[in-house]
Amino acid sequence: MLKALFRVKPVAPAGHIDAGEPFEGSLDGEATLKRTLTARQLVLLGVGAVIGAGIFVLSGHAAAEHAGPAVILSYILAGVACALAGLCYAEFAAMLPVSGSAYSYSYATLGEFVAWFIGWNLVLEYMFAAATVAVGWSGYLNSFLTNFGMGLPVSLAAAPLNVVDGALVYTGGLINLPAVAIIGAVSGLCYVGITQSAFVNSIVVAIKVTVIVLFVAFAAKYVNPDNWVPFIPENQGPGKFGMDGVMRAAAVVFFSYIGFDAVSTAAGEARNPQRDMPIGILGSLAICTVIYIIVSAVLTGLLPYPQLSTPKPVATALEQYASLNWLKYAVEIGAIAGLTSVILVMLMAQPRIFYSMSKDGLLPRFLAKVHPKFQTPYVGTIIVGALAALLAGFLPIGLLGELVSMGTLLAFATVCVGIVVLRRTRPDLPRPFRVPLYWLIAPLGAAACLYLFWQPFQEHWHLMVGWTIVGMIIYFAYGYRHSKLRRV
Ligand code: ALA
Repeated sequence: MLKALFRVKPVAPAGHIDAGEPFEGSLDGEATLKRTLTARQLVLLGVGAVIGAGIFVLSGHAAAEHAGPAVILSYILAGVACALAGLCYAEFAAMLPVSGSAYSYSYATLGEFVAWFIGWNLVLEYMFAAATVAVGWSGYLNSFLTNFGMGLPVSLAAAPLNVVDGALVYTGGLINLPAVAIIGAVSGLCYVGITQSAFVNSIVVAIKVTVIVLFVAFAAKYVNPDNWVPFIPENQGPGKFGMDGVMRAAAVVFFSYIGFDAVSTAAGEARNPQRDMPIGILGSLAICTVIYIIVSAVLTGLLPYPQLSTPKPVATALEQYASLNWLKYAVEIGAIAGLTSVILVMLMAQPRIFYSMSKDGLLPRFLAKVHPKFQTPYVGTIIVGALAALLAGFLPIGLLGELVSMGTLLAFATVCVGIVVLRRTRPDLPRPFRVPLYWLIAPLGAAACLYLFWQPFQEHWHLMVGWTIVGMIIYFAYGYRHSKLRRV
């Protein structure tokens, strides 16, 4: 049994792939995913997935509760950890241009059991993150509508239950209707096609990046350098200020970077994945890191950090300056757009992971069905959309942000380890992109991700353990028996 658990899926070197050429599923004579995405669209997909709730919602909390103005440093540290992992993702995605991302990479290196575990964690990264961000979207939309006296009543804009200090409390809500609606609309888009989804994503990304540029350009002259002093406020206990707080904040703002790896789930639909995957992954990560550092510097310079602990810190900072009030509306629109594209890319990514897991027999076959006309994994898209809508509409998901980060960090660490393993076991494979100094970069990446994982794990370990147990039950009840590898 142990041998079966750790069997690896043999890696066949991918030949050169041309535009329009089917890749996955082509051997079975089935409909296949469509190879249309260009390098520019992949970079935009990455930026679309990355800039969202992290900067528009969590940045203020991280500054006020953990790091003070040194949240800038936290953004740099989390960015470095992601860059190390991003290099490893780039090597894998160019070498194995399939839709399964970290799941497929671990199957090729660390065996089926680890692959399942990572695939299961990717559900946290994509489906749960989509639901979490949809709730943030609903908050920003409602706040924007309230400016014009059109805010929704709480009964229609909040899930019935929330967790406060570990206890379930009734919120007065029935359903978070805007959150359900945005997930429904975005799932519909994902159903009809990758090209349409990428097109809408490009427009939305243009809006949010424009708004961020406007924010930096107009708010920068109101920055008061006194607000940056002390840069690292004195330590006031575990995780609050001092270097300890900076590290805890790095784990919180890590959420802001989640999504650059979603580019790799579109590898099956990229025109020239061997060249464009590294460009998409590393390009989007670099753009977002620079934006985060600048925005967090301006934000903490506009307002003393203790005042930033609101659910919409960027808008809150602007409210203090009458002459910047117009910009506040623009920021709210930018945030609504920004969060929409995050939901879009997450809801595109999840069915593609399921697609790969189903092709390998670890999940039921219907999840690998591709629509004959739209060439999208439509059954998975409908199921993921419905589950994410349920999560966002009815469940207390505020707590789940940290769970999302923990699942993602484990996937990142595994990808880094996988690079070292595959360089040893298959040095012969053609690698269009190679991690420089892999023996240093990959272990450093794994260590950095595990360190960030450890921060929330100490507090929320029971959530992570519970999630893992559910995953194990499903694996042994279904995946272990139906795995195609075991039948070879
Ligand atoms: N990085 C994404 C966000 O910040 C998940 O919303």
